[in-house]
This record gives sequence, C-alpha cells and structure tokens, in this order.
Amino acid sequence: MRLDAVAPLRTATAGWRARGERIVLVPTMGALHAGHLALMAHARTIGDRVVASIFVNPTQFGPTEDFSRYPRDVEADLALLAGAGVDAAYLPGVETMYPPGFSTRIEVADLTEGLCGAFRPGHFTGVATVVAKLVNQVGPDVALFGEKDYQQLRVITRAMRDLDVPVEIRGVPTLREADGLALSSRNRYLTPQERAVAPRLNAVLSRIAGALSAGEPATGPVAEGIADLEAAGFAPVQYLAVCDADTLAPVERVVRPARVLAAAYLGRTRLIDNVPVAPGT
Ligand code: PAF
Repeated sequence: MRLDAVAPLRTATAGWRARGERIVLVPTMGALHAGHLALMAHARTIGDRVVASIFVNPTQFGPTEDFSRYPRDVEADLALLAGAGVDAAYLPGVETMYPPGFSTRIEVADLTEGLCGAFRPGHFTGVATVVAKLVNQVGPDVALFGEKDYQQLRVITRAMRDLDVPVEIRGVPTLREADGLALSSRNRYLTPQERAVAPRLNAVLSRIAGALSAGEPATGPVAEGIADLEAAGFAPVQYLAVCDADTLAPVERVVRPARVLAAAYLGRTRLIDNVPVAPGT
C-alpha cells in the first residue's frame, strides 16, 4: 500500500493498533539498497506491521551538499519494498512535512557538536525534526535505524527520550560488502577506482578497534589510521575518533563500550563508517 498523506496513513495505522498489532517504522530517504532491506527484514521479525517512509529531507542537507543530486528512484524503491513485505510505503511530499509557515525545530545539544555535527551544521536538527514528525505521523511502537549513521542513531534516541515520545528507537548493525565497505546510497557516486580504495576505511577502523580492545590508548592508532587513509587517497579525512558509545565523548582508553568513527572524502563522495569497540579483558 502506497500512502502520500497523513490522514490515510493514520487510518491504516489506527486499524492495526486497534487489533493490537505492533507497528515498526523504518525511515529512509529512498535509493534503497540491501542495507535498507535488512532493516525491513529485521522489522518484520519484531513487528506485525512495517511502515517504510521515503522522504529526501531537504532540511538535513547543507547548501553545498548533495540534496539535488541525491539518488531518487521511487518506482524501483516501491518494487523493493513490495518484495520486502512492507505493509505501507509512506511517501510524504515536502508540503506535508514542511507546510507554509513551518517554524519548529528540534535541536539536540552536546551529541551534535562533534563528529559529523562539526562539519554539517544544522544537519542533525533537520534529522531530529523530520524523524519526530515521521514518528508522530506513523505512531510506531519501534523505529529502526542503521548503525552506519551512528551519531544520527544516538541523536534520535536522545531526542525521543528527552521529548517523551512513546517509541523505542533501535539500531541495526551495518550491512557491508564482502570487502568491508558499509552499504550506502552514496556508494553509487564512487568511480571504479574509488570503489577499489573505499574498503580501506573499514579496514582502518577495525584495526584501531582491535588495538583499543587490546588495551592500547587511542592516540597512536588514530594518528596511524589517519595517515593510512590519506596515503590511500582519502582527502580530507574530516575526523577519525574514538568515542563513548553512549555519550559520544572522546575516549583515550576503552573501559566501557566505545565506537571508532570516521568521515572522509574519496573524490567528491563523503563516506562515513564506524565500528564497535568492546573493552579489553
Ligand atoms: O538516515 C536517513 O536515511 C535519514 O537521515 C533519515 C533518518 C531517514 C531522516 O531523513
């Protein structure tokens, strides 16, 4: 079922809720790939009804970012969603999400200041605001997000908690190509040469995670990792950092769950990735 407006969406979800069915929302910006389909498959296992939204949210793109060239292929996406057994594909228009006079924004402090937030001013405000709207429109029990956008996952979790929004936010581990590259809609921008180099990002992060789990402090492995990425052709490496998995505060020695996170350009394509680090024994 394809829905474009809030009223029919609410009619559908109200019917499901009245029957005691558990609703799972998977928000996306379309250009669906196997990573999204893994989210849909996971949604099926934890809920009775799955709603996937497709909305390329203009407010989370900066003026020089790729909003206008962001890949869009609605027909292909709808076919994939139908194949994934999604109950409703929700495709609101810009006028539904941002009607004239729209003037409310959700700003999450602290968590948004570093990492991607330092390079993408306003990005997480756009994300938190649109996700709050999608959650209010759908009224899901659970909303799923990929861990590839780890800072986004933390920001959304915090925003929903702080605002007492009755939804459980869950992260789903990143799906990767066989060579380690995290699946992303933006991978299709990579030239063949860049695609060959791209898995180095995950290799570097995994190596750092191993060193930290073995008890090494972060500084040395992170410096080596940046040098390694630069030598491979990533430019600029915007950040490569070790952070607490909850607060995203920088960490030098891993004594509780942490994350190694990075963002770097390969040609014109900005890649992000992160891996978990378990404290050493
Ligand atoms: O991760 C995304 O695709 C987007 O940031 C999201 C969560 C759908 C909000 O527009």
